[in-house]
Amino acid sequence: MYKKYKILIVFLFASMMHAEDFITNFEYGQMLYHEPRGVSCVPCHGETGEGRDIASYKNKRGETVVLRGPDIRDTTLSKLTQSLKNGKGVMPRYFFTNKEIKMIYSYLKKVNATEENNSTKGEEQ
Ligand code: HEC
Repeated sequence: MYKKYKILIVFLFASMMHAEDFITNFEYGQMLYHEPRGVSCVPCHGETGEGRDIASYKNKRGETVVLRGPDIRDTTLSKLTQSLKNGKGVMPRYFFTNKEIKMIYSYLKKVNATEENNSTKGEEQ
């Protein structure tokens, strides 16, 4: 009986350590970008921060107005931090730690550094 428990505990512990080892900062940043504690960035900023139309509506004069999440591939860490902590326009505010914000930032920089169609953008990271 006791032995069985011990094996189970060792197994659980080992699999937990395993999980910690194998999730990289990049993956964590990617996860936070796609599934943050709150509304995902993706519907408003696209899969990799390229920007996306959120909604369009007609104003009083009958003109179509497009509400768009901007391209944030070139954002700076301070702009990102400001926007996340305070919210911006229709964008909600988020409650991330500074470390998590850095991981989202690194995710955006890395994922775009590897995209060929983005080769004109200077990557300072
Ligand atoms: C509901 C849609 C929505 C969601 C969800 C959202 N944003 Fe935004 N975000 C916007 C809009 C719209 C703006 C532009 C606001 C303005 O300029 O008034 C913006 C602005 C920003 C900016 C500033 C851009 C600049 O150049 O100043 C950054 C950075 C940003 N968002 C990052 C994120 C990240 C990261 C997430 C997810 C954790 C996120 N946003 C979630 C809609 C959204």
